[in-house]
Amino acid sequence: METYLVTGAAGFIGSNFIKYMLAKYQDIKIVVLDLLTYAGNLGTIAEDIDGKRCVFVKGDIGDRVLVDRLFDEYPFNYVVNFAAESHVDRSIENPQLFLVTNILGTQNLLDAARKAWITGKDDSGYPIWREGIRFHQVSTDEVYGSLGSEGYFTETTPLDPRSPYSASKTSADLFVKAYADTYKMPVSITRCSNNYGPYHFPEKLIPLIIKNIIEGKSLPVYGNGKNVRDWLYVEDHCKAIDLVLHKGCAGEIYNVGGHNEKQNIEIVKLTIQTIRRLMTEHPEYRKVLKKQVIGTDGQISVDWINDSLITFVKDRLGHDQRYAIDPTKITRELGWTPETTFEVGIVKTIRWYLEHQQWVEDITGGEYMKYYEKMYDNR
Ligand code: NAD
Ligand code: TYD
Repeated sequence: METYLVTGAAGFIGSNFIKYMLAKYQDIKIVVLDLLTYAGNLGTIAEDIDGKRCVFVKGDIGDRVLVDRLFDEYPFNYVVNFAAESHVDRSIENPQLFLVTNILGTQNLLDAARKAWITGKDDSGYPIWREGIRFHQVSTDEVYGSLGSEGYFTETTPLDPRSPYSASKTSADLFVKAYADTYKMPVSITRCSNNYGPYHFPEKLIPLIIKNIIEGKSLPVYGNGKNVRDWLYVEDHCKAIDLVLHKGCAGEIYNVGGHNEKQNIEIVKLTIQTIRRLMTEHPEYRKVLKKQVIGTDGQISVDWINDSLITFVKDRLGHDQRYAIDPTKITRELGWTPETTFEVGIVKTIRWYLEHQQWVEDITGGEYMKYYEKMYDNR
């Protein structure tokens, strides 16, 4: 039986990953390690934690004693490290937390794995590693910096992080590489573009826009709205990680992205149109609107859900202009291709949010409101 340590699985991508893996493989055990920061929500994975195939441990990836104890307790084959501080805007406010979690935390996991997985030494002094193990680091295209209007990030694009978030993720990647180069540790890294889908915390663009429309609030677009992101449905990212773990080569980096570049303003307008269309086709969805306007026909109106909600606000400091992934390597070597088109994925995502308002309310309590007021009131 394969045993996984999956960190950060109470967050957006990690929770989608464990749901995908538990559904796909019957004979696996997953131990989730998550600190349950503002971005982690145990409710998201409550149905998955059964104490047998999936066990939950609340704790910090940087806690040496705890992580060593987990390696003593479980015969992990895989570490999949999702745990991170993940929001660029927060990294601009408080860079040091990103260093502590993303760099020191990752290094602590690497070290615990190194101690647990080494079975001896060869004649040159290099460690001999247990069979069937892998340390996988979930990284981001943001390590490559920012593109102009042309070109794509490949795995050999020079690292050029520009935000405290991307600098911390780059440093973590370099530590993973250092453990591979120095100790010959079997590692892999995926660098994925922007994800979207269910369980995405509404501080990120797409879920924040959906939440604000439901609440009848304005839709903040940074700068001129022409920055470009390359969006991938979260399940396609999960499939890529599964493939890299089982078929990818140790020591390799794989870029993951679906050639779906869009300007932020396009994303916002498309989200407005899709919510309005869904509410027109399925009037029962209108009940979730917190701003209830009654039309002349006596029904809840959706006429106000239009582009006039968009507000251009002060730009993000050092705002990266464009990200775009070249996924040729993972497609050619491992046969990965994205399965969910953006047109399908955005509708699935919006419907999920309309049908899971309780989830949104549960994770956006008092702390979220304080964050929102701080970040957006003076923009
Ligand atoms: P998220 O913010 O939704 O979730 C992060 C999770 O990590 C939360 O559950 C949180 O409680 C946990 N966590 C934070 N600090 C911790 C600590 N010290 N110890 C244990 N757990 C801790 O993030 P996400 O969007 O799901 O991203 C997951 C990973 O994927 C991150 O490493 C991120 O850099 C990377 N990534 C994200 C995207 C994206 O579009 N969201 C794209 C590419 C890569
Ligand atoms: P985000 O979802 O924070 O992801 P990242 O910064 O990691 O790419 O932001 C996506 C894009 O949307 C980015 O260019 C910043 C922009 N943005 C807005 O215009 N308004 C917002 O309120 C947010 C959160 C982001």
